[in-house]
Amino acid sequence: MKKDITNRDDIQLLVNTFYQKVRDDQRIGYLFDDVAQVDWQKHLPIMYDFWETNLLFVQKYKGNPIQTHMEVDDTENLEQKHFGYWMEHWFSTVDELFEGEKATLAKERARKMAHTIFMRVYMKRYTTDGQKNS
Ligand code: HEM
Repeated sequence: MKKDITNRDDIQLLVNTFYQKVRDDQRIGYLFDDVAQVDWQKHLPIMYDFWETNLLFVQKYKGNPIQTHMEVDDTENLEQKHFGYWMEHWFSTVDELFEGEKATLAKERARKMAHTIFMRVYMKRYTTDGQKNS
């Protein structure tokens, strides 16, 4: 039986393993390394805070992920399939490393967040009468 996610070390292992898979996947890695040119030294600790806040309820993360992804989308469209690849890696990483209540919550939170981010990005591109924004 695997252990559940219980502390920041667990979250670091999860996040580091996940982003390595994402960066190695040509279908999505370029969005981080080429399009957004992510500074991983800065991004990874933000993600540890984000997941610690979401899973362990420690008040650390204070960002605006919707705004961040809208800015990425301004440079290169984020498509539904990209969120699909992202979710595939997140689910497989969680399942490989952990099991339990928090592991399940990690998948649920990611699913909701992916849905919200994609809907907001998609809505930004279209006006209410279905015309594409310039
Ligand atoms: C197509 C899928 C996705 C792509 C390509 C993507 C890409 C990015 C990029 C480029 C950044 C900015 C990193 C930086 O420069 O520091 C970012 C930040 C972030 N992403 Fe995503 N992301 C995706 C999906 C998700 C999902 C599903 C979640 C939900 C768990 C998420 C959570 C975050 C958070 C919390 C940040 C930090 C925002 C901040 O700076 O406060 N992302 N993402």
